[in-house]
Amino acid sequence: MNEVSRQRHWENVYATKGESEVSWFQETPALSLELIRLVGAIRTSGIIDIGGGASRLADCLVSLGFGDVTVLDLSAAALASARSRMADNANQVTWIAADVTTWEPSRTYDVWHDRAAFHFLTDPKDQAAYVARLRRALRPGGHAIIGTFALDGPERCSGLAVSRHDAGSLAAALRAGFELIDTRRHEHITPWGTPQRFQFSTFRRERGG
Ligand SMILES: C[S@@+](CC[C@H](N)C(=O)[O-])C[C@H]1O[C@@H](n2cnc3c(N)ncnc32)[C@H](O)[C@@H]1O
Repeated sequence: MNEVSRQRHWENVYATKGESEVSWFQETPALSLELIRLVGAIRTSGIIDIGGGASRLADCLVSLGFGDVTVLDLSAAALASARSRMADNANQVTWIAADVTTWEPSRTYDVWHDRAAFHFLTDPKDQAAYVARLRRALRPGGHAIIGTFALDGPERCSGLAVSRHDAGSLAAALRAGFELIDTRRHEHITPWGTPQRFQFSTFRRERGG
């Protein structure tokens, strides 16, 4: 899927479906918050949520006092929905409407979080472009938390084919310079009660890597 059709797909999803009408909706992103805590993030840590969509992760981080939160998504409609829900708190977040595979990061972050965006990149070229951005945007010693459908998870999400992963396939995609520090399986229950198997893996970017 090229960048234009990808963007069209996601704009259409967020323009036509309410927050809790999408399979990935979760009231509280508890696992993401726990993993962000486990990598030692503090209130001044720079945290970017890649493909954050209309997720409530930014709301939770701001409520917990995190002061340097960025959400990147290729759907402007998704970001608008999150901003309007957060009202005044939205001003404490940096919002970036961009495709992660072509985005030009202008700074570095301490934590890169991605729940269910990387798995839409099925073309190795797009995966490599994602990893190139990750390398530029994550400071050495920083952490990347990447949640995707697990190897035994669904083959499609939002009507699109996905590539399913485990820690090994993610490590292979990231190539050298990242140390796996945590991996766990997670079962997400969609708003209509269907279980979906995810994996969440956390990597530390090696200094000099
Ligand atoms: C399944 S949703 C997950 C949203 C959010 N992370 C969550 O947990 O609620 C996937 C999100 O990734 C975004 N996305 C897909 N491909 C992307 C890309 N190449 N660059 C940036 N965002 C992308 C979509 O717009 C969508 O918001």
